[in-house]
Parts: sequence; structure tokens; C-alpha cells
Amino acid sequence: MTPRQLTLTSPNRVPTLTEIFRPISRRLSRVDRALRSWPGSSSPVVRRLASGTISKQGKLIRPGILLLITGHLGYRDGLDILLAAAVEGIHQASLIHDDIIDRSDFRRGEQTAMQRFGPDYSLLLGDFFFIRSISSSLSIKDREIPRMLAETARLMIEGEMEELAESYNFNLSRARYLKIIEKKTASLFQTTCRLAGRLGQAGKKEAEALEEYGRNLGLAFQVTDDLLDLVGQPSRTGKPAFSDLKEGRVTLPLILALRKADSSGRRKLTTLLEKIKDGKDEQLWPELLFQLRNAGAFHQAHRQAASFTARAREAAGRLQPSVYRQSLLQLADFVLHREQ
Ligand code: FPP
Ligand code: MG
Repeated sequence: MTPRQLTLTSPNRVPTLTEIFRPISRRLSRVDRALRSWPGSSSPVVRRLASGTISKQGKLIRPGILLLITGHLGYRDGLDILLAAAVEGIHQASLIHDDIIDRSDFRRGEQTAMQRFGPDYSLLLGDFFFIRSISSSLSIKDREIPRMLAETARLMIEGEMEELAESYNFNLSRARYLKIIEKKTASLFQTTCRLAGRLGQAGKKEAEALEEYGRNLGLAFQVTDDLLDLVGQPSRTGKPAFSDLKEGRVTLPLILALRKADSSGRRKLTTLLEKIKDGKDEQLWPELLFQLRNAGAFHQAHRQAASFTARAREAAGRLQPSVYRQSLLQLADFVLHREQ
């Protein structure tokens, strides 16, 4: 077994995203088209940069969740397409900005905007997607909706800043890490569910279950993302490996290994981490992975993600049975066992 391979318990076959989103596949294509039309009315430079950036869409998980929920609630107007595009636009904006902060050159198997256009244009491109999301939501009469989107963006920015401020803090606690990823990642999942519930006029109990689903799915999503940074295959994730480590981000597997180690083990680990700083000493990565695996850190982090997906499944299980609910349940399994 190579250091990067890790066998984590996975059920026989986890459905693919295409299978999960089958009940809404045509509507999800409309979201994709809506996003691609955004730069249309802008100046040529914006059109060129923005179209280049959305040439390869991501997994469209957040729009997919939104449409599954409005489908489940029997919502019939088209505003959910607009809102699904707005949510994805905020997500895209945050990734463009995140790639500037992380100095990332690769995402979704392609060069990042940061790599192609440099930090100045990328910063403005992220702003473009962000403000375009908010402005499109303003066409909805319900003023609570843009307010919720703006508030969520504020939380994401706070989470990202807090994470940055905790770089190389090897005393970071699990509780603090979870608080940060709740803001940075889970808040947009939770808001996506809340917005869908609001559009579809979910009852109080349903709305609560939906928000709980979104929050827990988002937490699981980020924990698996942090695991994939260490044990994923770049050919599957579309992102370079160890980028968290190179930037000094202290993620759950590290926190768990550091917590378990005795004082000499801790010293060994932190020395190794310091040496890996800024992507130097690549030959030390296998050694670090070996130590993390020996400490059971990957399995423990996976168990943490599994506990969040179990809570998400439990919340979705409180909804009335439907094909859409079935997809929401399957999505929890996908998030836990994803390789991309
Ligand atoms: C990816 O996480 C980044 C986020 C989930 C949020 C980033 C948020 C900001 C940059 C704040 C700005 C927000 C807006 C709305 C403009 P990651 O770095 O752990 O994942 P990665 O491995 O995909 O980079
Ligand atoms: Mg990043």
C-alpha cells in the first residue's frame, strides 16, 4: 500500500451524482445555463474572464440540493432556478477568492483564475460573481432572500479569515476547527436548504429538518474535503494534494493526531509540519502521512464525517417519503464516500 492510499469503510456502491440528481437533471441544466448567461451583458473583458472561469462547472451540489428540496415540496414557479444559480454564484466567488488566498494553481482539473489571470483580475472576478448573485436575488419580491444570502456570505468571509488567522496554530482545538468550518462551508449548505424551504413554504418542522440536514451535510463535506487534501488522488479531486499543509492550515486529521500524541510524538509531528511549510521538503510528506495513519487520524476524521452524515440522514428521514428525499439521503452517502 502506498502512503497515499487509505482504505476507509465504504458501502458496496455509492450512487453517482448523476444518479442522485436524476429527478432534477433537466432543471439542473437550466441552472448551468443561467450561470453561463451571467457575463452576457457585461463588457468584453468581463465576458472573456468570466466565461473562461465557468467553462468547467463544478459538481453543482448546492443547486442540486435546492432543486431537490423545492421538488420535494412541490414548488412550481421558476424562482428556484434563479436562486440555485445565485447560491452557486456565491460558491464560485468564494472559490475564486480562496484560490487567491491559497495561491492555488489548480482546481477542477484546470488552471485556476488566479493562475490564468493573476490576483488582480481574479479578485474582481470573484467580486463579479458575488455581486451578480446578490443582484439576481433582488429580483425576488421576498427581501428576506437577499438578506439571507448576504448574511451567509458574511459568515463565510468570517470563517475564511478565522481559518487564515489560525494558520500554523498547532494548538487549534477540534471545537474551534468545527466552528470555523461551520461558518466557512456549512453556512452556505444550511442557507441553501433554508431558502428552498422558504420558496416551497415548508412547515415549521420540515424547515427545521431541512436546515439541520444542510448544516450537517456541509460539516461532513468540509471534513471530507480536508481528508481528501491528504489522502485523495489529485486525478480524482482535480486539486493538488497537501495544499492545506503547504499553507499551514491545521485541519481535523492533524488536530486528532496532535491530540493523541505524547509530548515527544507531538514534538516530532510539529517539527515535521514546520519543515513542510510553504511546500518545501516534499520528501517528508510520506513520513507525515505515515504518522497520521499510525495515529488513526484518518479513520477518526472519517468517523467524524460519518457522524455528521448520519445526522443529516436522520434529519432528511423526518421528511415525507419522496424520490427527492431519497436523493437527499443518497447525497449524504456520496459526501461521505466521495473521491472528488
Ligand atoms: C474552500 O475551502 C473555501 C470556502 C469553503 C470558503 C471561502 C470563503 C471566502 C474566500 C470568503 C469570500 C466569500 C465570498 C462570498 C466572496 P477549502 O480551502 O478548504 O477548500 P479547497 O481545498 O477546495 O480550496
Ligand atoms: Mg482552499
